[in-house]
Amino acid sequence: MKIVLLGYMGSGKSTIGKALAQYLQCDFMDLDAYIETEQGMAIAELFKAKGEIFFRREESRALKAVLAQNDSLVLALGGGTPCYGTNMDDILEHATTSVYLDMSIPALVERLTHEKAQRPLIAHLADEELGEFIGKHLFERRPFYRKAAHIINCDDKSVAAIVNEIRNLLQ
Ligand code: S3P
Repeated sequence: MKIVLLGYMGSGKSTIGKALAQYLQCDFMDLDAYIETEQGMAIAELFKAKGEIFFRREESRALKAVLAQNDSLVLALGGGTPCYGTNMDDILEHATTSVYLDMSIPALVERLTHEKAQRPLIAHLADEELGEFIGKHLFERRPFYRKAAHIINCDDKSVAAIVNEIRNLLQ
């Protein structure tokens, strides 16, 4: 069984993925962490050293490799993963299910204001530019995210409540 979690940066994919994997007693994998191990450097460094196009190619390759494995796992994607190449089609074809962790722009702005530094796509932005950037980005990305088998709105919900919703979807 492979459960794929997708959503924008800061939507809680890794936190929720770890809690869900613990409940299901299966492995958790973070696609960014997998790429970091393969490349031997942090994502932010990779963007600086090789650029975003290189990262997107490696991201697609890593996704295909992980989806081809037999193990049961909860997989948290990077925020952009579903939006490039054939990635979303690959997910729909090979994952047991996929869940889009949707959040409103204000909720994402609140989270990401405190977490900009380690995120290469937003590190250069002033706090007051975040809302416009995220809004434009979501306009482009939501059509991909919304192809997921399930959509959960995560605003103002605890990790436990979201994990519970996903558990109900799996029954
Ligand atoms: C990205 C999101 C990041 C990471 C990279 C690009 C994006 O993952 O893959 O910095 O394009 O939204 P998280 O969503 O886990 O922060």
